[in-house]
Parts: sequence; C-alpha cells; structure tokens
Amino acid sequence: MEDTTKLNKSKLGTKQYWDDFYNKEKENFNENPDDTGECWFNDSDAEEKMIDFLMNNLNDTTSSVLINEKSTMIDLGTGNGHLLFQLWEEGFKQNKMLGVDYSEQSVLFSKDILEEVYKDAKDTIDFKHADIFNDSWNPGQFDIVLDKGTLDAIALSGLTFSNNQTVVDVYPNVIEKILKPNGCFLITSCNFTEQELIKTIEKSGHLKLWKTIKYPVFEFGGIKGSTICTCAFTTV
Ligand SMILES: C[S@@+](CC[C@H](N)C(=O)[O-])C[C@H]1O[C@@H](n2cnc3c(N)ncnc32)[C@H](O)[C@@H]1O
Repeated sequence: MEDTTKLNKSKLGTKQYWDDFYNKEKENFNENPDDTGECWFNDSDAEEKMIDFLMNNLNDTTSSVLINEKSTMIDLGTGNGHLLFQLWEEGFKQNKMLGVDYSEQSVLFSKDILEEVYKDAKDTIDFKHADIFNDSWNPGQFDIVLDKGTLDAIALSGLTFSNNQTVVDVYPNVIEKILKPNGCFLITSCNFTEQELIKTIEKSGHLKLWKTIKYPVFEFGGIKGSTICTCAFTTV
C-alpha cells in the first residue's frame, strides 16, 4: 500500500496557492457577507465531530487530559477561522482562542469575519500571521491545539530542513512546543491514514494517542478504510 507520509509536492503545499485562495474567498465575502468561505471536510462532518468530541470530553475526571470550558486553544493553519467561530458558538466563550496561518490573506479574511459577523467574539478570538515552522515563532502554550487539514497541506509542500528532516518529521516538535502538559492535540487529516497519523505524531516519543473519532468505513476492491481520520493526542 502507498505510504502517504511521503506525499508528493502539490500546489496545495504552496503559500501562493493559499494566498490566492483566501484572497478570492475574501472578495466573495465582501460581495456577500453570508459567504464566509469553505469549511474543509464538510462532507464528512469533521468540524462538527471535532467540536462534539471536545464538548464530550470536558472535565473528564477519569482521564489525565485536562480540558474544560476555559481551556485556551490554538488553531494551526486556521484558514477562514471557521472552526474557532463554531467552537465559540458552541459555548467556548470564557477562554482565549488564537488562529494562526502563514497566509496573510487568510489572516485578513478571518479578521474581517470576526469584525463583521462575530463582533461579540472579539474578546475571545484573535488571528495572527505565523509560519508554524519558524524557530522564532513562540506563541506560548495552549490547553488545546487544533489542526484541520493543515498537516495535509504542509505535507504537500515537500519541504525539508537542513538536517534532511521533512516538514512532516518536524511537525510533532511544533506541537510539543505549544501544547501544555496533559493538554489535547486534536487533528483531522484526509491524506494520512489513522495508523500513519499516529506513527507520525508519536514518533518523537513526547506525544501519545488519547482517543480517535470514528467515521463511516467504505469498502472498495476488498480494501476497507475511511476517507478521513481524526485523532486526539496528549503529552506523555
Ligand atoms: C487545507 S487548509 C485548512 C484550513 C482550515 N484549517 C480549515 O479547516 O478550513 C490548510 C491551511 O494551512 C495553512 N498553512 C500551510 N502551511 C502552513 C504553515 N507552515 N504555517 C501556518 N499555516 C500554514 C494554509 O495557509 C491553509 O490555510
């Protein structure tokens, strides 16, 4: 079976692609304020499942993972900020939420939505421009770290570092830097299988799988699988 952790380069892995994409979405939003842009993995209800997962696992005294209504959150590669806005709608209003993206156009777009549609969320949600692989990027530590489709896009960049490590190899180190002890890293991917994702994130030995979210399984040509997977990790 193909090892999708060794993804090929694609335009979806370039900053130019995302700048053009969010520039267009921002233009659409300016023409029609009801159009807040694409919700990635909408077909699989991934966003709803991620939100339900967090709500259902708050204040779980049987688990070492410590998350509650006041947990601070960061959304990596936030795009249009949809996930954070929905979490706010669902009741995460007493905490700090930060969305970061390396596309300036994404940050401008999500700030526009915050200003025009979610004014009341301005004390809770903020968006900042950042490349998460930049060594000087240090946003502090968060109780909950979110990724919906961002590692997928990152993997398609095909970038490697001077020590020959790929962006996918380095990605868990980024999470370790910003995740509080006993926090939750919740990630949804369509490019990695569940097993590949677990192997990738646990590789450094500092993060371990906590729980997974189940999706409908399809069967094709005798092979079973899901088109998407969501895993929650915590610190070791
Ligand atoms: C597939 S989109 C997902 C957007 C959003 N999470 C969602 O669910 O709609 C991938 C996002 O990752 C961002 N991204 C890619 N590489 C990044 C990096 N190195 N640092 C920060 N953001 C990055 C892109 O600009 C884009 O917004």
